[in-house]
Amino acid sequence: MADFGYDVADYCDVDPIFGTLADLDRLVVAAHDRGVRVLLDWVPNHTSDQHDWFVESRSARENPKRDWYIWRDPAPGGGPPNNWVGAFLKGPAWTFDQATGQYYLHLFLPQQPDLNWDNPEVVAAMHDVLRFWLDRGVDGFRVDVVHGIGKDATFPDDPADLVARRVHHSSINDTEVSHELIRGLRRVVDAYPGDRVLVGEVYLLDTTKVARYYGQGDELHLAFNFPPLYTPWDAPQWRHRIVEADTEFEPIDAWPTWVLSNHDNVRHRTRYGTEARARAAAVLLLTLRGTPFLYQGEELGLENAVIPPDRVVDPGGRDGSRAPIPWTREPPHGWPGAGPWLPFPPQPGTNSAEVRRDDPASILHVYRRLLAARAASPALQLGSLRLLDTPDGVVGYERSLQSGGDDDRRVVLVNFVAEPVDVTEQSEQTEHGRLVVDLASDGAGEGRPFSGRLGPDQAVILRPSQLC
Ligand code: NOJ
Repeated sequence: MADFGYDVADYCDVDPIFGTLADLDRLVVAAHDRGVRVLLDWVPNHTSDQHDWFVESRSARENPKRDWYIWRDPAPGGGPPNNWVGAFLKGPAWTFDQATGQYYLHLFLPQQPDLNWDNPEVVAAMHDVLRFWLDRGVDGFRVDVVHGIGKDATFPDDPADLVARRVHHSSINDTEVSHELIRGLRRVVDAYPGDRVLVGEVYLLDTTKVARYYGQGDELHLAFNFPPLYTPWDAPQWRHRIVEADTEFEPIDAWPTWVLSNHDNVRHRTRYGTEARARAAAVLLLTLRGTPFLYQGEELGLENAVIPPDRVVDPGGRDGSRAPIPWTREPPHGWPGAGPWLPFPPQPGTNSAEVRRDDPASILHVYRRLLAARAASPALQLGSLRLLDTPDGVVGYERSLQSGGDDDRRVVLVNFVAEPVDVTEQSEQTEHGRLVVDLASDGAGEGRPFSGRLGPDQAVILRPSQLC
């Protein structure tokens, strides 16, 4: 738990603080009974320093597991073998082991030594780990820092300017070796029946590079594309992200992903500043062309928690987005006993699941209606996307899908400014007669003809009136 589960001491078991393997088996069966699939977060780049493999590896240079990790002699003048910077602490990505007189590589914390994927025994052992879980019926994996597993065999220094800015090596490690290794992972997964999926965390903040991790349809099924997550609430910048995704993913037949919040970043509700924007952002997230990923609590409109210094637990400074869900209105908000491991996000009563569930006008119900709108529309799920000419401050697009004799269409308009905007012209660009409000981020006018006017920071999904 040096990195809250990203330091794995046993790949084939469940940490007792979460339960047992039998519990996990029951969870998978119960999810499948309800039509829900289960992916596990698989961490192939590094283990915990408490993993038996590493304990053996560090015990002696001659140990058979020595080469399962990346050990190097000190640089000629002493010090780490190269200038790579580790994530979180922003110090060297190498730690010296006094007993054996060598450095080991860790792109993250010193407690997270990197596995040596150049060693075929490691590859075989890790493929067996995938099979262990696939045999138990899991539907796939979110693969942690998957672009990191293959290292340049010459371990060259990173550019000095990046090192001066403390850019950690894991955010720029991008080698052919990783692609080859990922093709190997894909073959393991594809050997199983059913639609098993590999979703890669490709933390390279460059969409062109991310797209390459889909290979020729023989690498990842899906790769997280993070640049949109770092994009502020601004129409031109979002328009650019949408065009970029279209340009990079469409031609190679790769299916995009969209994600606004996760356990490593400040929640978008906090970054964007208001609930109106968080609601409009949800419309964007769930109607763009691709697979959306929701982070627990965004459907309640949770903000980042404020963590007093004496409650900080994460060396990466990410506690604020990992604060507990307030389940009930009244303290302890569903967390009896010692209470949760971190303070609650702001206004835990108002933002609790209980209060949000009971209020049909709440953001939770916007998410529910969005999911229902998606489920009801093949165009929103799978259709093409055409950007519309929109006034400054507004992003608009049409999603459409023709299959058989059916023609399904939706128009989405998102107002990024805190003033009303007239979009009469845009809502008429679609040549499909009058448009009806299928969904509005503030609930206004749903089921009625569209007025041609967007409210401040409001987003709408419109549908042709004949579908009413
Ligand atoms: C990415 C994960 O999302 C993050 O939480 C973790 O700290 C690093 N990978 C290292 O495993």
